Amino acid sequence: MTGGGLVDRYGRVATDLRVSVTDRCNLRCVYCMPAEGLAWLPRNEVLTDAELVRVIRVGVELLGIREVRFTGGEPLIRPGLASVIAEVAALTPRPDIAVTTNGLTLARHAGALTAAGLNRVNVSLDTLRRDRFRELTRRDRLDDVLVGLRAAVAHGLTPVKVNAVLMRGVNDDEACDLLSFCLDQGYELRFIEQMPLDADRRWSRADMVTADEIFASLRTRFTLTPLPGRGASPAEHFLVGGGPARVGVIASVTRPFCGDCDRTRLTADGQIRSCLFSRTEDDLRTLLRSGAPDSELAQAWRGAMTAKPAGHGVDDPTFIQPPRPMSAIGG
Ligand code: 5AD
Ligand code: SF4
Repeated sequence: MTGGGLVDRYGRVATDLRVSVTDRCNLRCVYCMPAEGLAWLPRNEVLTDAELVRVIRVGVELLGIREVRFTGGEPLIRPGLASVIAEVAALTPRPDIAVTTNGLTLARHAGALTAAGLNRVNVSLDTLRRDRFRELTRRDRLDDVLVGLRAAVAHGLTPVKVNAVLMRGVNDDEACDLLSFCLDQGYELRFIEQMPLDADRRWSRADMVTADEIFASLRTRFTLTPLPGRGASPAEHFLVGGGPARVGVIASVTRPFCGDCDRTRLTADGQIRSCLFSRTEDDLRTLLRSGAPDSELAQAWRGAMTAKPAGHGVDDPTFIQPPRPMSAIGG
């Protein structure tokens, strides 16, 4: 690596790149999108497959990126995803490649994605009850997610991780059922505290189900033993019933892990975001399309790291939600 990696003002080094490949989605989760959807990015602003691969290659070859996670919106609705993954898998050093998906079309795509070089998937699943799933995602597609999860295991995309967001009065009584289900199926469950990234801007700190509440609920049915060493992983892990099964809790709001953050983000329209909650972005698309050499893209990306905040400050009274909703940032 020449010219140095992605180091911010606080000495944190970003090695984990999250790439949002589309801002569109086939669900409308209430904590993310409005029922009617959003004004999608204009097609000509969305990076082409070749542009995406080029930016990722610069990250891997010149900036020390070692893990690439594809997100959305829903990444599996991007037609070229498998071919982008194949090209990323051919880079040196080969990065670890993961996808965060809602699972709806995973059964259909798991084979091609695995063949292309995908290593792992995280699947979002907040409820096991069909009526709630429909209420929460505004689509009646629970069975598709369940079939998608099984397909992920069948293709060896393991450990299959399940992400669950609990909402007060909606699915906060399902923590134990979700954990039982994941233990039975061999999925690794992680609960994520709901963050203020919803397009409707309805998030409220008081309504948020906290990590402590999640632990309390899980302990009514399970014994949890904390595992040391969270490292750069945002999840705190616990052995369930003495192990080997595990559960994770990502306490993004009540126990922020910003001090250990190793992430950098690329939006579908070619903007670098140094933080999920950034209110500013650095435009790589214009550089890309004006014929800039790799070294210049790398330098712009390094420069973007100076804007990385020390922390997200969600619990701070002066916190302001970023203009982009989750679906246009990627998880
Ligand atoms: N807070 C927490 N998690 C969220 N996700 C989407 N929106 C939010 C939010 N406001 C989760 C999804 C998915 C991952 C990308 O982030 O459920 O698992
Ligand atoms: Fe789609 Fe994910 Fe947002 Fe749900 S949370 S609407 S699955 S992008």
